[in-house]
Amino acid sequence: MRTPLVAANWKMNGSREFAEQFFKGLDLEGVGAQVAICPPFPYLSLLAEKAGERVATGAQNLSEQPSGAFTGEVSASMLEDWGVRYVIVGHSERRSLYGESSELVARKFSAARSAGLIPILCVGESQEEREQERTLDVIDAQLQAVVSINGGDCWENAVVAYEPVWAIGTGMTATPEQAQEVHRFIRNRLGEAGAKVQILYGGSVKSGNAAALFAQADIDGALVGGASLDAEEFSKICRAAQ
Ligand code: G3P
Repeated sequence: MRTPLVAANWKMNGSREFAEQFFKGLDLEGVGAQVAICPPFPYLSLLAEKAGERVATGAQNLSEQPSGAFTGEVSASMLEDWGVRYVIVGHSERRSLYGESSELVARKFSAARSAGLIPILCVGESQEEREQERTLDVIDAQLQAVVSINGGDCWENAVVAYEPVWAIGTGMTATPEQAQEVHRFIRNRLGEAGAKVQILYGGSVKSGNAAALFAQADIDGALVGGASLDAEEFSKICRAAQ
């Protein structure tokens, strides 16, 4: 059986003060799910210090390169140096705003695994792609790009997050049934490893909709954006992922 995982993606939000205050409001008493927080890079060490053993830290991005003349980039080994456990790769905002191709995402996935980090691979379709009934084709292509570079056995020690682009930051959450259909498809496409891979849902997850999502057979948790910036709200979402 898969352990639920709830991960916070703070995006480019927060401050030192915010990070310190956040842990005063976080209440994980009785929560069985794994919990991770992915802050902006500058706060990773602070979080590692505050988070202790109960909360894992994650990064929101990494370079596909191991080291070298890549100004502004951060390598997997540097993240591993700071005790980082997860790293988000292929978030739709990286793909759309920063032009990350599925091939580049696949190479970042590879770099993360090579350093012993757990990549959280984000996949998802746009509103237009959903309306054109291309959702599963889009997601299959995103998954296959990773397999083509990393091999079919690359899903051990990896997490997948289904984040419909039209649900991110919009308040338009996918219905549990919509999400379950895609999660089931993803799990089947992962092959033998699929049964063990945690597949998270992301896109306007709130404490009010989390339980219905987590009740679905193939939804193993959430990748939470806006709601993760409120410690009390995020604690409620973690509690719902039993
Ligand atoms: O990575 C999670 C994020 O994209 C979801 O954002 O604000 O819709 O929870 P939000």
